[in-house]
Amino acid sequence: MVSKKPETTDSQGPLHVSIIMDGNGRWAQERGLPRTEGHRRGVDNLHQILRSAFSHKLRYLTVYAFSSENWLRPKAEVDMLMRLLASSLKKYTKDLVEQKIRLHTIGRVEELPASVRKELDKAKRATADFTDYHFTIALNYGSRLEIVDAVKRYTAEVQSGNEAPENLNWETLSRYLDTRNLPDPDLFIRTSGELRTSNFLLMQSAYSEMYFTPTYWPDFGPERFAEAITAYQHRERRYGMTGEQVNPHSSLVYGF
Ligand code: FPP
Repeated sequence: MVSKKPETTDSQGPLHVSIIMDGNGRWAQERGLPRTEGHRRGVDNLHQILRSAFSHKLRYLTVYAFSSENWLRPKAEVDMLMRLLASSLKKYTKDLVEQKIRLHTIGRVEELPASVRKELDKAKRATADFTDYHFTIALNYGSRLEIVDAVKRYTAEVQSGNEAPENLNWETLSRYLDTRNLPDPDLFIRTSGELRTSNFLLMQSAYSEMYFTPTYWPDFGPERFAEAITAYQHRERRYGMTGEQVNPHSSLVYGF
């Protein structure tokens, strides 16, 4: 039995939006440009979204920038993505500070090149005191890897006598995930027409509203983002209950 209803928000908007920023490569290829140009435009777009997304409702934004499987891409593209990451962090940290946005990461960041780790550390330190808005970048992240890492940390605590397996439930295990300080995403967006979750926040998205759009990430600007938020506001989130339970007025609306 589920012990408590997952944390939710009201119909005014999501508290946490997660995004798979897909389609950079195709955006570039369709224009006869190198894929790297698509990634550059993808970063520009993320910068635009960050400038407008946060509000008194939306306080968490989490993006999938590099998956634990992306190492399999051609080395030149991986190297370029790492350089782009480091240079973008360097360039935009002042904007995060100006907007009072705190930077976090999820994933095995310790396996990233030192140049990226250095810029991440600097940006995290510069934004560490902010409390209202939280921007999380998933880097060298994969849900299955995260779950395995969480189970290893949990079992180490069992062996130390700090956890009792008979008390194990989802709330306990989720305290060992990389996302332990984040609420579950309310809205999960994937651009570029792919209809998959691709190992991104699998367990955390159990009750997320999914929004798939054919638009490639470089073209998914603030207006498209606002459309996704509006679509979310028209969804009814039921968490396994009936529509009437979550919204007692729904029977009046539909006349039953
Ligand atoms: C997916 O497009 C995109 C990526 C794998 C990389 C996304 C990364 C960024 C936009 C950079 C993030 C930077 C910061 C500072 C967070 P794709 O290459 O899979 O496109 P395709 O499916 O069309 O080939």
